[in-house]
Amino acid sequence: MMSREKQARVDYHVSPATGALQGRVRVPGDKSISHRAVILASLAEGTSVCDGFLDSADTRATMVAFRQMGVDMTLEGECLSVNGVGLNGLSAPSGILDLGNSGTSARLLLGVLAGQRFSSILSGDESLTRRPMRRVADPLNVMNADVRTTPEGTLPAQITGNRRLRGIDYELPVASAQLKSALLLAGLYAQGKTVLTEPAPTRDHTERMLAHFGCPVTRSGMRITMQGNSLRTGRLRIPGDISSAAFFLAAGSIVPGSDLVIEGVGINPTRHAVIEILNRMGADISVSNLDEGSAEPVADLRLKYRPLHGIRIPRELVPIAIDEFPAIMAAACHARGETILEGAAELRVKESDRIQALAEGLEIIGCPVETRPDGMRITGGRPEGGVVRSHGDHRIAMAFSVAGLAAEGPVTVQDCENVDTSFPGFIDCARQLGWEIQTSATENTEDSLPSVAEKQWPDPRL
Ligand code: S3P
Repeated sequence: MMSREKQARVDYHVSPATGALQGRVRVPGDKSISHRAVILASLAEGTSVCDGFLDSADTRATMVAFRQMGVDMTLEGECLSVNGVGLNGLSAPSGILDLGNSGTSARLLLGVLAGQRFSSILSGDESLTRRPMRRVADPLNVMNADVRTTPEGTLPAQITGNRRLRGIDYELPVASAQLKSALLLAGLYAQGKTVLTEPAPTRDHTERMLAHFGCPVTRSGMRITMQGNSLRTGRLRIPGDISSAAFFLAAGSIVPGSDLVIEGVGINPTRHAVIEILNRMGADISVSNLDEGSAEPVADLRLKYRPLHGIRIPRELVPIAIDEFPAIMAAACHARGETILEGAAELRVKESDRIQALAEGLEIIGCPVETRPDGMRITGGRPEGGVVRSHGDHRIAMAFSVAGLAAEGPVTVQDCENVDTSFPGFIDCARQLGWEIQTSATENTEDSLPSVAEKQWPDPRL
């Protein structure tokens, strides 16, 4: 049985804003890109350097996993330096690879581990061990990998090494960048081509970074083709995370008079739909200082307050704004009229069931909500405030901190420790714009959850 530690619970308290949000901020580096930087730099031969790296609980999980497999790396401030060992240079980890709360680490690692000569076991925390992994394990096994999940299709997963992987021609059943990336990473180890067809475009950071590290990936419509060989070292500049910036865009959109700039944000076209959605709702977000000189486009985002109205969110924008719906819905509860979100069933299998977590909190603060299996309809207005749960989900915690800014009364969000998984320094960044978030810590009286869920472990000798 895993040891249980007492953990303090951190709650956020947000009062209605007394003035406009104003100023300039930078948000930390992009989480998705930072994970990929650790992975590809580890698999390249030689030293790669990445500036703007996000030092967060999730990216640390990826770093720790590669260190366990013998990769030497140092992080000084935001500069990550990795001594890559080459595609076949990883060594067997001495124990289970624990990816904590990080779905991206787990799914991408499954793809890498499927191609190794050694066997491994991969697990995570209470939330991660509830998330679906069969979507990754099944196609990897079609590539001749041997990846076994629990009977429920969840972690822990056991990956048997020394398999000869074959490329596949595969239609992804869900629009998932993590699934696509796992298969592309396994494709590095496969004989022949790996050809993937996406049902809708999803973030393309893996494709861009593979090309940057010398392994070209071609795209024709929805079809992506790559063939594994070797990776050369790279120098990367990781832009600010638009998923973190989204909370400031949403916050400024609901506080009258706000005028703020977020500098150096990644605006990859497969990620930037939050800008279009908020602008369609009436916000005024403009893009300046665009720099397309490196692997990922970067720009400054300026938001000027204009009153919001509800919209039906276009379905084609859903996969490219998937992580921003907590922020968007927090803004929508202050918009005039109804906002309708459909085609977003994937939100149910994120760090929490985000449709249910949002609906629960929105109802509590006084915003009428109707949920559906793949979305929700909310009626905006002026919510009253109240005490809501984050469900241990970083983006739900930050979303309700946004919602509190324009409510009638204060909003308390419980269990916000996990904000550090994507946005360390969130409260300080918010304060720079005049957004005050108070915190309180309570000693948990119940036994805290262990970091790795207690499940039936596969045989660790395998
Ligand atoms: C991510 C892809 C998205 C997103 C997640 C990060 C990635 O998930 O929600 O936070 O880095 O590839 P999907 O795989 O479901 O697209």
